[in-house]
Amino acid sequence: MNITTNTDTVPYIVVEDYFEEEQVQKMLTELSMVQHKAEFNLPKKMEKGYKKNTSVSIEDVWRDRDCSPILTNMDSIYEDTTLITQIKDTNYIWNGWYNTNSDRTFVTFGKKGDYYKPHMDISQFTLMYYLWEEPKPFEGGDVILSTDKQQEDWSAKISIKRNMLVVFPSPTWHEVRPITKGEGRMGVIRFIYTVPDPHPLPNPKI
Ligand SMILES: [Fe+2]
Repeated sequence: MNITTNTDTVPYIVVEDYFEEEQVQKMLTELSMVQHKAEFNLPKKMEKGYKKNTSVSIEDVWRDRDCSPILTNMDSIYEDTTLITQIKDTNYIWNGWYNTNSDRTFVTFGKKGDYYKPHMDISQFTLMYYLWEEPKPFEGGDVILSTDKQQEDWSAKISIKRNMLVVFPSPTWHEVRPITKGEGRMGVIRFIYTVPDPHPLPNPKI
């Protein structure tokens, strides 16, 4: 596991080789099971043509979270004290990590021509985890983070890698650049919120 914390303008985190390969394989198996349910969903208030991809809400697939390697693996990130200890003093924004109590998880399936223009999420934190079958079956689809929609003030390009976790505050503008070739770019997108009637999250002392 290789953690990079950006402490400059936007406090984002990139972790390479996050999960063990056995966990990655289980998630790939799960993704192959749910891919037929993937469909295009345009968020409310988003204009037509703002994004092109297909996704599935994992909570809608499984009644029992424990049946889902994707959900249980993403849940384990909350208890990753190595990660949280390393980031918590880099920026005050991470103080909010344990002021959350709810999550939603989507998986996305990207193919040539898919993209997602700059937008912000309505959650407090966004986790994006990428995986695919090897050899890498696509080109493009990198992620750009920025402080402004036009990416003029500050922006960072993240060349995504297999088994990479990216975490950032959800009000950060983010874009998925077009996939220029191939298919099979898969992402697990987890939103962390604070809402009433939550799904309880672990809250370890660190
Ligand atoms: Fe997003």
